Amino acid sequence: MNIAVYPGSFDPVTNGHLDVVERAAKIFDQVIVAVLCNSSKTPVFTLEEKMEMLRRVTAHLPNVTIDHFGGLLVDFARQRGAGVIIKGLRAVSDFEYELQMALVNQKQDPQIETLFLMTKSDNSFLSSSIVKEVARLGGDLSGMVPKAIEQDIYQKFDTIKGE
Ligand code: PNS
Repeated sequence: MNIAVYPGSFDPVTNGHLDVVERAAKIFDQVIVAVLCNSSKTPVFTLEEKMEMLRRVTAHLPNVTIDHFGGLLVDFARQRGAGVIIKGLRAVSDFEYELQMALVNQKQDPQIETLFLMTKSDNSFLSSSIVKEVARLGGDLSGMVPKAIEQDIYQKFDTIKGE
C-alpha cells in the first residue's frame, strides 16, 4: 500500500491545505494528515480543535485519516509505514525553506521521499496566518476556508475578543 503523510500546523486548515489533501488522495492509497502538536509557535486552536476541523472537512475522502505527531516527521512517517511526505508549494518564497526541510528529512531517512504539489493559483495567497488575521479583524473568510469550519473560526475570535 502506498501511504503518504501530509504534515503541518493546520492552525486552522485552509482551502489551500484541503486542495493538496484532495489531490494527494487521488495519487496515494492512504493519506495521513499529521498535525504537529509541539510547535514553537503558539497556536490559536487546540490540537483537538484542529484535528476535529480536519476530520470534518476531509469526511468525503475515505482514504484520508487525521493523526498527530510530536517528534521528528520522518520517525512518524516510518512508524506509519509511509514512504512519502507531501508538501504544498505556493510560491518561490516557500521554496527555500521547504527545500531545507526536505534535505534535512532526506538526511535523517533517505528512504522517505518528499513530494511537492503546487497550489492552485486561486489559493496561492492563502495561509493559516492570513486566515487568522482576516478573522481577527472581522473580515470575510469565504473562499479561504471550507464552509464547514467558517463559523468555528469566527467563534474562536469572538471568544478571544470576549476574554
Ligand atoms: O504548517 P507548517 O507549520 O509549515 O508545518 C511545519 C512542519 C510541521 C511540516 C515542520 O515543522 C515539521 O516537519 N516539524 C517536525 C519536526 C521535524 O521533523 N523537523 C525536521 C525537519 S526540518
